[in-house]
Amino acid sequence: MKQKKLLYAGKAKSVYRTDEKGKLIVEFRDDITAFDGGKKDTLKNKGSYNAEVSAFFFEYLAKNGVKTHFLGMIDERHMAVRELEMIPLEVIVRNIAAGSIVRNYPFKEGMKLDPPVIVIDYKDDSRHDPMLNDDLIIALKLATPQDLKKIKKVALLVNALLVKILARQGITLVDFKIEFGKQGKTIYLGDEVSMDSMRLWDKKTGESLDKDVYRFEKGDVMETYNRVVQRITKKAKKP
Ligand code: ATP
Ligand code: TYD
Repeated sequence: MKQKKLLYAGKAKSVYRTDEKGKLIVEFRDDITAFDGGKKDTLKNKGSYNAEVSAFFFEYLAKNGVKTHFLGMIDERHMAVRELEMIPLEVIVRNIAAGSIVRNYPFKEGMKLDPPVIVIDYKDDSRHDPMLNDDLIIALKLATPQDLKKIKKVALLVNALLVKILARQGITLVDFKIEFGKQGKTIYLGDEVSMDSMRLWDKKTGESLDKDVYRFEKGDVMETYNRVVQRITKKAKKP
């Protein structure tokens, strides 16, 4: 597969056309951002760490019945994916209260959310990704009621699978964000599943093992990402 012209450069990844119809290459760059792009840095190896973890999770999820865009790795930071028409929703699943729901609602940080809470934001940087509800999603024609139902069902399945595999490594999955897209009528899990888009806490120490280390300058984020990659991908037992 040959990389062709740049289709889109986001905050942390670039998407390229390829010489194969319906297939794209996603490049995981070393850029890291937080607070709506207000904090920005470039950190050596960050892209390859996130690509490696994403690939590991996409393979694991696919083995367990989740349709994903992942086709394979080209090198350590370039991923071949199915081209999707992205649905502009940020689907967030929360198992423990942290981050924006603690800031915006009377939840105490660390409170268990059982059943998990799904929050869906409108992926629109110019509007600062406002939170949606089902009626707004349907009125804005961002997804049909059937697609929305399917997206939520898959999001909960992804959550259950990720909770299980991370727990084996002594890691609590606090929350995460995923994105979906369509090819024809089929909905696929797209984008990435990595330390940038999840909140992970060490079960024993409560230490943050994700982008919160960068957001709140809790330590050396690359040292943390390196450790998490080893913990998740190398020692994980096959499901
Ligand atoms: P955010 O950081 O808020 O997710 P962004 O657009 O800056 O937004 P990046 O991760 O840098 O995010 O860019 C990757 C872009 O590629 C996103 O817009 C994402 O929706 C899109 N994308 C991911 N997977 C696919 C796919 N399979 N087909 C087409 N586009 C995709
Ligand atoms: P959230 O608590 O809403 O935001 P913040 O991290 O700013 O407090 O985030 C919930 C989870 O979703 C968290 O693991 C980070 C992830 N996420 C993203 O990856 N991208 C986003 O644009 C948003 C809003 C969240």
